[in-house]
Amino acid sequence: MRVAVDGTSIELADGTTVLQALRAAGADVPTLCFDERQEPFGACRVCLVGVAGAPGPLPACTTPCREGMAIDTHDETSRRVATAIVELVLSELPVAPAPHTELARVAASLGVSEPRWRGMTHAVDHDQRHPYLAFQRELCISCGRCVRACDETQGAFALTATGRGFDANVTAGLDAGFRDSSCVSCGACADTCPTDAITENTLLEL
Ligand code: SF4
Ligand code: FES
Repeated sequence: MRVAVDGTSIELADGTTVLQALRAAGADVPTLCFDERQEPFGACRVCLVGVAGAPGPLPACTTPCREGMAIDTHDETSRRVATAIVELVLSELPVAPAPHTELARVAASLGVSEPRWRGMTHAVDHDQRHPYLAFQRELCISCGRCVRACDETQGAFALTATGRGFDANVTAGLDAGFRDSSCVSCGACADTCPTDAITENTLLEL
């Protein structure tokens, strides 16, 4: 199958996603809920791209390529929507994400330093009952990566996505905290978390 990425034609295997096509072509767009170790989830919409003939922007991580597709990573609507999404995410955090986090890097790549508006922010809520993992709930952006890491990578099923909208978050076990859940302390959740909401205790103390 042949597709064009920003005008460059490339040959791809069937089943390739648009995001894989971009990377194969040396192009890219920011991602937030995507981790290449996990099945694509398509939740954050930060990876939007333009596709010729499509009625609107499409998420690169979950959209399969089709023969003759023309993909535009510079599509103005896609970049504007992705930027607004990241600003909205930042506006709900009580503090700016640490510079080394994936969220901070994505924001920088979109030219976002401060959100243009401020509304309700998440209340500081730390769960430090686990001997190795710390959970700073107020930094959670509900990307779901930790839940998928726990399910797909470790098969521990210790984490659950909870709530909706502004109240969306993650809980361990029956909200009893990591220590009392089926967590096996593998650290896969902390490793994938793009905001440092979940960290290994040793890192939090640094
Ligand atoms: S704790 Fe981290 S990885 Fe899990 S949903 Fe929240 S931001 Fe995403
Ligand atoms: S990275 Fe594609 S929707 Fe989140």
